[in-house]
Amino acid sequence: MAMGSALVAILASVAALGQAAVVGRQYAVAVDKIGTQEDIFRFLGGAGPYFSFPFDNGIPEQTPDCCKLMQVQLFARHGERFPTKKKGNKILETYYKLANYTGTFNESLSFLNDDYEFFVRDPEYYEEETTLKNSLNPLNPYTGERDAQRHSQNFLALYKNLLNETSSFAVFTSNSKRCHDTAQFFIDGLGNDYNVSLQVIDEAPSSGANSLTPRYGCANFSESENDGYVRTYSREYLSNLAKRLNIENKGLNLTNSDAENLFFWCAYELNVRGYSDICSIFTEEELIHFSYQDDLESYYENGNGNSLGAVAGSILFNASVELLKQSDDLEQKAWLSFTHDSDLINYIAAVGLFDNGVKLNTSYVPFRDHVYRKSWIAPQGARIYTQKFSCYNQSYVRYVVNDAVIPIESCSSGPGFSCPLEQFYDYAESRLSDINFSDKCGKIIATNATSLTFYWDYKTRNYNASLVKK
Ligand SMILES: *[C@@H]1O[C@H](CO)[C@@H](O)[C@H](O)[C@H]1NC(C)=O
Ligand SMILES: *[C@@H]1O[C@H](CO)[C@@H](O)[C@H](O)[C@H]1NC(C)=O
Ligand SMILES: *[C@@H]1O[C@H](CO)[C@@H](O)[C@H](O)[C@H]1NC(C)=O
Ligand SMILES: *[C@@H]1O[C@H](CO)[C@@H](O)[C@H](O)[C@H]1NC(C)=O
Ligand SMILES: *[C@@H]1O[C@H](CO)[C@@H](O)[C@H](O)[C@H]1NC(C)=O
Ligand SMILES: *[C@@H]1O[C@H](CO)[C@@H](O)[C@H](O)[C@H]1NC(C)=O
Ligand SMILES: *[C@@H]1O[C@H](CO)[C@@H](O)[C@H](O)[C@H]1NC(C)=O
Ligand SMILES: *[C@@H]1O[C@H](CO)[C@@H](O)[C@H](O)[C@H]1NC(C)=O
Ligand SMILES: *[C@@H]1O[C@H](CO)[C@@H](O)[C@H](O)[C@H]1NC(C)=O
Ligand SMILES: *[C@@H]1O[C@H](CO)[C@@H](O)[C@H](O)[C@H]1NC(C)=O
Ligand SMILES: *[C@@H]1O[C@H](CO)[C@@H](O)[C@H](O)[C@H]1NC(C)=O
Ligand SMILES: *[C@@H]1O[C@H](CO)[C@@H](O)[C@H](O)[C@H]1NC(C)=O
Repeated sequence: MAMGSALVAILASVAALGQAAVVGRQYAVAVDKIGTQEDIFRFLGGAGPYFSFPFDNGIPEQTPDCCKLMQVQLFARHGERFPTKKKGNKILETYYKLANYTGTFNESLSFLNDDYEFFVRDPEYYEEETTLKNSLNPLNPYTGERDAQRHSQNFLALYKNLLNETSSFAVFTSNSKRCHDTAQFFIDGLGNDYNVSLQVIDEAPSSGANSLTPRYGCANFSESENDGYVRTYSREYLSNLAKRLNIENKGLNLTNSDAENLFFWCAYELNVRGYSDICSIFTEEELIHFSYQDDLESYYENGNGNSLGAVAGSILFNASVELLKQSDDLEQKAWLSFTHDSDLINYIAAVGLFDNGVKLNTSYVPFRDHVYRKSWIAPQGARIYTQKFSCYNQSYVRYVVNDAVIPIESCSSGPGFSCPLEQFYDYAESRLSDINFSDKCGKIIATNATSLTFYWDYKTRNYNASLVKK
């Protein structure tokens, strides 16, 4: 019901905007503009399109010469999507404010004088993956659908040999519709040579630790435990942005909250339309502030800044280590799983890849020691690979985050800056041994599922949870 009336409101507002812009110049994104905004993706808090990790250390992602790949694991985020319902409604508030403005827009907002169409055509699209079908532009290269297809092509280029041994294998996804759809687009992109069974794992807290979203099964886990501290980051950049736009456009009354919504408008419009004029209104400094504010939020909500971030992530890390240990015995050599950014951040917190032990600080941007960047780690379509390879008689493990090899700081003496297997197990043990998920998460947790078992029991359980739109 609420959705229906919101749709009517959008259609009405679009029609009204058309009338207001008397001459009604047609709003259309020129083909040659698409692809010109990729430099700002890394400042969009991981809400905008996928991009490779910007600093790759120069280490090739391919298995080092003379080494043979033994196993690969993937924890991936769903692809480019529409805003969530909550975020979409916030962006819409700001859009309405602009759509109700009676003057002629100046400067960076002047594109709104054209017959601009809001980028979410139907509130039913909130929470969903962007696709060729629901995208506003058939040439949009940034839909979640196309991203997943490109990803599976890259996957085949690097890891096809591992699939060779088992043309039938399982892929795992949470039962969030957009995660499921990403997994399905990825599978479709593999072509017809493979017989893939998609295992859909319930996100519900009753799944306990047997989940790709174990934070929901962790009763004590609270994303908001540090909100008070995170809020102390200065919002001056937002008031500067709002002020600038209000001065340029007399009578416009944008608030800090509107200014913040504009960043998300930019990011999500890119996912939907392939280009966003809103992205051109920010200064470089504003983008840096927005991006760091998002780092702070992510770090303190799900990363090493949250007291239970690594605890939630220990479930996936522990299972990953177990898969590595069993790689010779397991017929399946590629373990591909799709979930949300928050779960990838929990997992990364447990692994400790981007943790230098210094807590992110709200009083300044740590330019020199800035190792935790949410958007670099978990943009839409993020992909965190664990590679296990063998060179002569020794095996090694290393991580590849968004196409860049990220060595373990204290263990990188192997080929391609990998970690020798036994040392890797010691490293993992040192990070996992202090963590007792059931203990730290409290009593409410489903006592029938205190560890992740679906990689081992999917053949008998055949996970098929109903999809949820969240
Ligand atoms: C003006 O804003 C209201 C909500 O505050 C909205 O319902 C209406 O559609 C907006 N008008 C236009 C032209 O967008
Ligand atoms: C698959 O394995 C066979 C036999 O080991 C090999 O001949 C073939 O080249 C492999 N194909 C690919 C695509 O790796
Ligand atoms: C495909 O995989 C399923 C198990 O998921 C198996 O039952 C079926 O026999 C396989 N089909 C082929 C053609 O390999
Ligand atoms: C747009 O800017 C011009 C000068 O740059 C100014 O004269 C005009 O009042 C502005 N329009 C609005 C609606 O603020
Ligand atoms: C702008 O909005 C604020 C908060 O909604 C309000 O207090 C203020 O009076 C408004 N200013 C103008 C010029 O409309
Ligand atoms: C942040 O930095 C300030 C000033 O350097 C320092 O006083 C404060 O303790 C730091 N806070 C955290 C959480 O590290
Ligand atoms: C690998 O180990 C086997 C037996 O453990 C040995 O015969 C062989 O020489 C070793 N190869 C290399 C390259 O070290
Ligand atoms: C973890 O904590 C639970 C509950 O306190 C306890 O029953 C269990 O034995 C602990 N497990 C380990 C491995 O210490
Ligand atoms: C988790 O919750 C339980 C109560 O359910 C509490 O006793 C315990 O101290 C909590 N642990 C942590 C680490 O917050
Ligand atoms: C645990 O029990 C809950 C509630 O009875 C059920 O929904 C859930 O599927 C069970 N989980 C497992 C792994 O058996
Ligand atoms: C870690 O993995 C082992 C092996 O699968 C399992 O026995 C154990 O319960 C797991 N621990 C947790 C906390 O997931
Ligand atoms: C999942 O599979 C079970 C057993 O085959 C079946 O009873 C159940 O209805 C299925 N659930 C969904 C959501 O398809």
